[in-house]
Amino acid sequence: MTFTLESTITLNNGVEMPRFGLGVFKTKVGTETENAVRWALEAGYIAVDTAALYGNEAEVGRIVRSGIIPREEVFVTSKVWVNDLSYEGTKAAFDDSLKRLGMDYVDLYLIHWPVNDWRGSWRALEEIYQTGRVKAIGVSNFLQHHLEELFEIGEVRPAVNQIEYHPYLQQPDLRSFCQSNGVVLTAWAPIMKGRVLDVPELVAIGEKYGKSAVHVTLRWMLQTDVVTIPKSAHQDRIISNAEIYDFELTDAEIETINSLDCNARIGPHPDHFGE
Ligand SMILES: NC(=O)c1ccc[n+]([C@@H]2O[C@H](COP(=O)([O-])OP(=O)(O)OC[C@H]3O[C@@H](n4cnc5c(N)ncnc54)[C@H](OP(=O)(O)O)[C@@H]3O)[C@@H](O)[C@H]2O)c1
Repeated sequence: MTFTLESTITLNNGVEMPRFGLGVFKTKVGTETENAVRWALEAGYIAVDTAALYGNEAEVGRIVRSGIIPREEVFVTSKVWVNDLSYEGTKAAFDDSLKRLGMDYVDLYLIHWPVNDWRGSWRALEEIYQTGRVKAIGVSNFLQHHLEELFEIGEVRPAVNQIEYHPYLQQPDLRSFCQSNGVVLTAWAPIMKGRVLDVPELVAIGEKYGKSAVHVTLRWMLQTDVVTIPKSAHQDRIISNAEIYDFELTDAEIETINSLDCNARIGPHPDHFGE
C-alpha cells in the first residue's frame, strides 16, 4: 500500500480519519500553538489532536479556520477532561470546546480517561453524535475491560481508542482486541517523547534508509494501522517528523520493532489514574 501524508483509515461509521496528525499536548497557549498548527498545515498535515485539558483549543481553532486549507479538509480531535465526566458535564464541556474552537462541529470527540462517571459521559457523546456536531466519537486510555463494558451499555461503538503506544508499550492484546472490534488505535507519546532516538535497534533500522529512529517508529505505526499524532513545537521537527513516505519497512523490520515491547509506560496506568 502506498501512503502519503493525506492517507486515511476508515472508521467504523465510514468517516475517514487521517493516519498522521499533530499533537499539541504541552504546546504553550498563544503563539507557540498558533505557530505549531500553522507550520503543520503548511507542511501538509491534515489533522490536529487537542483537548480541553491542553488549554489551546482556541489557538488550534483560529489557525484551522484561517484558510491555510479549508476547515472541512482538516480533521480536528478534542477530548472531554475528567472533571466533566458525567452526562450533564460532558454536554456542557462539548459546547464549551466548540465555542473555544470557533467551530460548529469537531471531527472526533473522545472521553479522555475511563474515570468518574464515564458511562454517563458516553451517553452524552452518543446524543451529541446524533445531532451531527461530531463526526465520530471515541475513547482514550480505555483497557479491554472498559471497552467490553462500553460495548454492553452503549448504542454506538467507539470509533477510536487513543492510548499510550510506542515501541516499548505495545499492549498486543489490547491492540488486537481493538483492531478485531473495529476500534481504530491512535498512539499517544508515539515517539516516547523523543526517547526512541536512544533505542539502538530503531537507529540501526533507520541507518539503512537514511532515516532517524523517529521516522522508523512513525513508519512502523503507519504500516500497522495505528494512527499517530507526534507533538512538536519546532518547525524543523514538525516538517521532518512527516518525512516517512519515501521508504518502507520490511516484514522482518516490523517484527524487530514488535519485539522491543517491554510493557514500559511513560504515563499513568488507566486503572490507577489519579492515584
Ligand atoms: N489521550 C491522552 O491521554 C494523551 C496523553 C498524552 C498525549 N496525547 C496526545 O498525543 C500527542 C503526542 O504525545 P506526546 O506529546 O505526549 O509525546 P510524543 O509525541 O511522543 O513526544 C513529544 C516530545 O518529543 C519531542 N520531539 C518531537 N519531535 C522530535 C524529534 N524529531 N526529535 C526529537 N524530539 C522530538 C517534542 O519536543 P518539541 O516540542 O520541543 O519538539 C516533545 O517533547 C500529544 O501531543 C497529545 O495530542 C494524548
